[in-house]
Amino acid sequence: MDARKTRWVAVLAALALGIFLAGAALGAEKLLVCGPCSRSFLPVAEKAVADLGLSGKVQVAKTSCLGDCAGAPVLEFRGQVYSRMTEGKLKDLLRKAKL
Ligand code: FES
Repeated sequence: MDARKTRWVAVLAALALGIFLAGAALGAEKLLVCGPCSRSFLPVAEKAVADLGLSGKVQVAKTSCLGDCAGAPVLEFRGQVYSRMTEGKLKDLLRKAKL
């Protein structure tokens, strides 16, 4: 295969990989952690997701106020707001979600 064809194959392979990764990210469910009051819970949420092997299925992200400022840590999953969250409660929630 000449150098020109090799470059095209590399470009097409990179495009295919990019499309695959974008699709995986778009398909992931969002677990939103309130940034203003629960920022310190972000690594806990990321660890819980990783521990359950859900890193490709659940994307942890920081968000703005979720409206339960006295209940930190506060997060939102599937449109429901959860307060006074712990790592154990989050793992139970994710297990029950059947991802
Ligand atoms: S600042 Fe976190 S719920 Fe309002």
